[in-house]
Amino acid sequence: PYSFVDETFLSMKGRNELEIKHLLWIAADLKERIKKWNETIRPLEGKSVAMIFQKRSTRTRVSTETGVALLGGHSVFLTESDIHLGVSESLADTARVLSGFVDVILARVNVHDDLKTLAKNASVPVVNGLSDIFHPLQILADFLTLQEHYGYLHGLNLAWVGDGNNITHSLMMAAPKVGINLNIATPKGYEPHTDLRKACAEFAEEHGTSVNYTSDPREACAGANVIVTDTWVSMGQETEAQKRLKDFKGYQVNDELVKVAADNWTFLHCLPRKPYEVSDEVFYSDHSLVWQEAENRKWTVMAVIASLVTDLEPEIPVPKW
Ligand code: CP
Ligand code: NVA
Repeated sequence: PYSFVDETFLSMKGRNELEIKHLLWIAADLKERIKKWNETIRPLEGKSVAMIFQKRSTRTRVSTETGVALLGGHSVFLTESDIHLGVSESLADTARVLSGFVDVILARVNVHDDLKTLAKNASVPVVNGLSDIFHPLQILADFLTLQEHYGYLHGLNLAWVGDGNNITHSLMMAAPKVGINLNIATPKGYEPHTDLRKACAEFAEEHGTSVNYTSDPREACAGANVIVTDTWVSMGQETEAQKRLKDFKGYQVNDELVKVAADNWTFLHCLPRKPYEVSDEVFYSDHSLVWQEAENRKWTVMAVIASLVTDLEPEIPVPKW
């Protein structure tokens, strides 16, 4: 009932509750049937994915390449040193040419607007593999992980501690719609974008969830079920590193901070991780779901790509959200 055909996947902003849950259901279905029951499911047979990467990647690249292969498809990994992109051919022309070869374009870009240019000029769906503003694929993996761990999403209190960055933005575009309350702690000057805060408030209002902003990590983590952080220096911000490390002092997720969380607290991190934002004690603790979260990048990107170009429907019972 929720057709993703010919649509793009640039952010979670335009995805409603049913669409997000449907994608999670497909991801859970693929994971159960392929990993647990060893089924062969090949909806991407004969289909190709172009993967344009302007920045480094371990998870997004490997999860997509292996996930597409597992579903019978083929992917081509393209960096700026491989193709003409932006150097001797415009983004728009690249999008038109690639559309004649592949069924999906997944792109990791420096500037979010470049994704919009790709999507506008491509005649195939474009998937955001991370931009400076959003990282929607990560949030699907996070939700699948929480769904697996808790057995539900509705009513979870999630604390974000750190930079108001691309991951925060994507969480804000999705969490309120699936019943997750957000408490976001960022240092002054590192808050999420104002217009995304406005959109998030509207989603929260519509779905009866709450969103709070603070500059106090303890306040955000009080009673939290889920604590999430990310690097303080995202890709492209390397020249700001010294200043950022100073400005984020006191924001490390560590044993002291998690004392105020709920007893059933868990920890998520999109990775790659640096010890300054989360201590080893928390990162490697039993409460940390980071490896499961990383693996779930694969099952969720498979769900996104398969939904965009096939009419694959899940067979397992719909999860209790
Ligand atoms: N979490 C994530 O997107 O990791 P990569 O940068 O390794 O793709
Ligand atoms: N915020 C980080 C996420 C990496 C997956 C970055 O953009 O570098």
